[in-house]
Amino acid sequence: MKSFTMRGAKILATGSSVPDKSLNNNRISEIVQTSDEWIFNRTGIKERRLLTGINQSVIDLAVNASLKALNKISMNPREIDLIILATSSPNDLFGSASQVQSKINAQNAVAFDLTAACSGFVLGLVTAYQFLQTGSYSNVLVIGADVLSKWIDWSDRTTCILFGDAAGAIILQGCSKENNTILDFQLNTDGNYSNHLSIAYEEKLDPHPILNLYKGSFKNIAMNGKEVYKFAVSQVPLSILKCLNSLNISINDVDWLLLHQANERILKAVADKLSITKNKIISNLCKYGNTSAASIPLALDEALQDNKISHDDIIVISGFGAGLTWGTVVIKWKCF
Ligand code: COA
Repeated sequence: MKSFTMRGAKILATGSSVPDKSLNNNRISEIVQTSDEWIFNRTGIKERRLLTGINQSVIDLAVNASLKALNKISMNPREIDLIILATSSPNDLFGSASQVQSKINAQNAVAFDLTAACSGFVLGLVTAYQFLQTGSYSNVLVIGADVLSKWIDWSDRTTCILFGDAAGAIILQGCSKENNTILDFQLNTDGNYSNHLSIAYEEKLDPHPILNLYKGSFKNIAMNGKEVYKFAVSQVPLSILKCLNSLNISINDVDWLLLHQANERILKAVADKLSITKNKIISNLCKYGNTSAASIPLALDEALQDNKISHDDIIVISGFGAGLTWGTVVIKWKCF
C-alpha cells in the first residue's frame, strides 16, 4: 500500500528531434500563392521541417527525442514507470505511446496517448506531475510530438504556411518537496469554440443499408486564424497572471516566457500585455513553424543547449490551441 503524501517533481533531462527535410517560405510560394515576406511578417516563420518518406510517423520522432533525453542522463529505459505521449497526429487511433514504449525498451512503463493539440505538452506535464506528487510513479517520460504535415491541405495557403513536424521529450522524477520544480499550474477548456481549429471527422452520406451506421474519415486542418489569434492574445495572459498571482510571484521575477510557438506576433503580444521584456521570450519558431504539442519541449531543449537557462530561473510555460484549450505551468529551474 502506497502512502499518498504529496511529493515534488524535478526535471532530469530533455531531448528533441526534428526531421531533416526543411521547407522554406520561398519553396512554399511555389506550391501556393504566398511569399516569404507575407509569411514572415504575419507569423515570424522562415522555414519548417517535414517528415517525408514512406512509413515515417510521429513514433519515429518521439522515439528519437526520448532516447536523446535518456542518453543525456544515462538512464536505463526500464526505470521509466510511465510514458505520456501528447499528440494529435498518432499513426494508430488506439494510441501510439505503446509503440514508443516498445521501441525504447521501456518494458516497465505504462504508456498512453493524450490528445490536446497544441496544449498537449502542458497537459501531459501536469498529468505526469499528479502521478509524481502522489508517489504512484517515480520516473515519467512526457513527450510532445506531432506530424501535422500529414493533416494539412497543401493547397490551403491560410494553414499550410504555419505548421511543421517535431518531437520534444522530458524526463521527470519524483523528489522531496524542497527540490520541487513545478510550482503551480492553471488549465482551461472552452469547447464552445472547437470549430475555430479542428481536424474534424466527416461521415459519408451513405449509411450501411441494414445497420444504418455512418462511417467516415478525418478531414484536413481547418482554422479561423483571426479568432484563434484573438483567443490566444486575450486568454493566455489571463492564465499566466492567475498562476503567478496564486504563487505570489511578480512579473519582474519571471526570467523566461516559454509559450507554445504558434506565431511570433502572438508571443510578442502576450509579452506586451504582461509587460515582459522581449529578451525574456524564448522563440525558435522561425526555424520550425508551429510544431503543435512538440513546440514547448523543443524550444526548452534548445534553450538549455544554448545555456540560456540558469539554476533557480523562473520559467512561465503556456500552451494554447484547439479545443479550445490553454494553460500555464510555472517552473523553477533546477540544475541537478
Ligand atoms: N499568403 C498571402 N496571402 C494570404 C495568405 C498567405 N499565406 N493567407 C491568407 N492570405 C490573405 C487572405 O486571403 C486575405 O486576403 P484578402 O484581404 O484579399 O481577403 C489577407 O491575406 C489577410 O488574411 P487574414 O486571414 O485576415 O490574415 P491575418 O492577418 O489574420 O493573418 C494568420 C493570418 C493565420 C497569420 C493569423 O490570423 C494568425 O496567426 N492566427 C493565429 C493562427 C495560429 O496561431 N494557429 C495555431 C494556434 S495553436
